[in-house]
Amino acid sequence: MANKVKPPEQTEVSEAQIAVHWKEEGHYQPSDRFKSQANMRDPHILEKFGLDKFPDCFREYADMLTWFEPYRTVLDTSDAPFWKWFVGGKINASYNCVDRHLAKYGSKAAFIFVPEPEAEPDVVITYQELHTRVNEAAALLRGLGLTAGDRVTFHMPMVPELPITMLACARLGIIHSQVFGGFSGQACGSRIQDSGSRVLITMDSYWRNGTLVDHKANADIAVRAAKELGQDVDKVLVWQRYPGKYSAKTPMASGRDSFVNDLLKDYKGKNVEPVALPSEGPLFLMYSSGTTGKPKGAQHSIAGFLAYVTATSKWLLDIHPDDVYWCMADIGWITGHSYIVYGPLANAGTSVLYEGVPTFPDAGRPWRIAERLGVNIFHTAPTAIRMLRKLGPQEPRKYKYQFKSMTTVGEPIEPEAWRWYYDEVGKREAVITDTWWLTETGGFLCTTVPALHPMKPGSCGPGAPGIHPVIYDETGAEIPKGSGKAGNICIRNPWPGIMQTVWGDRDRYIKTYFAKYNKSPKSKDWRDWPFMCGDGAVQAADGYYRILGRIDDVINVAGHRLGTKELESACLTVPEIAEAAVVPVQDELKGRVPEVYVAVKPGVPPSQDVVDRVVKAIEDVIGKIARPKRVYIVPDMPKTRSGKIMRRVLAAISNRRDVGDVTTLANPDVVEQIRTLVQGKDVVATREELPEDIAKFGEVE
Ligand code: WTA
Repeated sequence: MANKVKPPEQTEVSEAQIAVHWKEEGHYQPSDRFKSQANMRDPHILEKFGLDKFPDCFREYADMLTWFEPYRTVLDTSDAPFWKWFVGGKINASYNCVDRHLAKYGSKAAFIFVPEPEAEPDVVITYQELHTRVNEAAALLRGLGLTAGDRVTFHMPMVPELPITMLACARLGIIHSQVFGGFSGQACGSRIQDSGSRVLITMDSYWRNGTLVDHKANADIAVRAAKELGQDVDKVLVWQRYPGKYSAKTPMASGRDSFVNDLLKDYKGKNVEPVALPSEGPLFLMYSSGTTGKPKGAQHSIAGFLAYVTATSKWLLDIHPDDVYWCMADIGWITGHSYIVYGPLANAGTSVLYEGVPTFPDAGRPWRIAERLGVNIFHTAPTAIRMLRKLGPQEPRKYKYQFKSMTTVGEPIEPEAWRWYYDEVGKREAVITDTWWLTETGGFLCTTVPALHPMKPGSCGPGAPGIHPVIYDETGAEIPKGSGKAGNICIRNPWPGIMQTVWGDRDRYIKTYFAKYNKSPKSKDWRDWPFMCGDGAVQAADGYYRILGRIDDVINVAGHRLGTKELESACLTVPEIAEAAVVPVQDELKGRVPEVYVAVKPGVPPSQDVVDRVVKAIEDVIGKIARPKRVYIVPDMPKTRSGKIMRRVLAAISNRRDVGDVTTLANPDVVEQIRTLVQGKDVVATREELPEDIAKFGEVE
């Protein structure tokens, strides 16, 4: 056979354009019943939001909000690519989500909180009550001296106090930064430091899988970690899961920690005028993992973000005020910010807030909740769908709920899981929107408009109204639809929901999302700044996009983005570890899970103890969600002659694939040793193609 070694530059191009074999799925039509009641039924909607109408088409989104002062400019591009939307306007997100609904919907439920223990009663919070509680919390925050522009970090579970505190911040222009409750104290601490928060708001405990977790313990770790990084936290405010009772064992630090319920006594019945804030003021930060070890704070604006999530909640989730909507995501992620809190509330929706695990105490739980509360819009992630299907494939049939629409988000969904969702959960009546988007984008990028477009299992659909995707190859050439080739999906134009910047790091914003395809860095023309999303994608002849997964060093575990560099540096906190490499492995339930390869320092014997401490280090530094599936101690890492660890080779071994040609490595022999360690003596590798995200893993540096 001819020389198998390809020049590296050719490898890059051919891999970006790797042919994607995919059986074309059939289309499913929305029912007439759904169509007749849908908020968005205009068949010309995508043309109305065509690029020739940009950016003025987005005025319609701004019109869905109530303004204190009207905006003057739809889109200001003078500081490209730091877009400013609806400039000159004055607005308040808390007012738009709460106050403006009081006259008509004051006695209607804004939230129905469902505790994890099934015997505990639901807690209904009407818009009127939400108003009272948001005002009291805002008065308390103001009483602490916090004002517009200050940052406050939250580390809260799924309880009504989380949206209440978010809206209290929004009322005053305080920038909230919620860290997912499942992250460790240390992970919370580094985010406190990055955002420069002096106040941490947390909760003593919450229920998870039948256990009342001591969550306050994390606050102490977080404050200590932040301090080590140079950021002092003056105040820790602790909500009580059971008001009036402290449900954690960790002591309260005197002078620093206070119970919110105690402090609130001084603010009973207090009203706080919503502050008229500039449109482009920041509303919140949401940290997300990327290629480097340091998570980045996506900064979202008040008006642009709110307009975008309001319109997409109305048109794409199809929320009407008389619907009962349930998104099972956690508010600690962007999905919860956009599509549990801000979008649904701005539409006067009624949302179910569920505290716990969907499969607790059994796989019938979600369907019991749906039946009891009359949920008719359901929103979840493929991992939950796979899990519920595995544990209780027939469970939905036992309950008399009926959804009109369902959403999936966070990971690619394979057609088989999609069909179970459609047939069993949706009972062949509910439409499905497969919504693809990112923390950075504030709201949906690609999805069908549910009453207008047929569904196609495994594909998210065309761009949402006003979103114009394009797929580029490595050289910046457009990959045409129907070519069967994959590339990097980008959005040609800005949109109101796009993040404003990476908190405190303008250069990183440009470098991460724009540098690759921007040809003129001084340009003020938005056409020169396509937004690179970081996913591989392919567009079928019918225009629908199929997302293949992350192309950077991010592993999407059960819909949670984990940075491999973060995991690797956690491993290196174990003193015996010399080198670490983390790779994604396909998993039947969670999509991808991390596997860890470590090399120990000379003279250290490999042992289970070292493995256990690596796992513990990952749990401490990041959280239990990042727990690796396996940890292998290897004699050496496979390396290029320049010393770079070949993560791709490890990924192939972990995924039981052929490692390909390794003769150019500095230490080719170690590959076979590692392969035997992982796969056993017999060759078990298959030649089946690796999914794009794994095949390309480790390429971006
Ligand atoms: C992935 C979550 C396929 C994708 C809203 C993206 C998806 C990352 C989908 C962002 C989908 C999200 N189909 N993949 N419908 N939705 N993803 O920031 O890889 O937590 O880049 O935002 O999740 O995850 P993030």
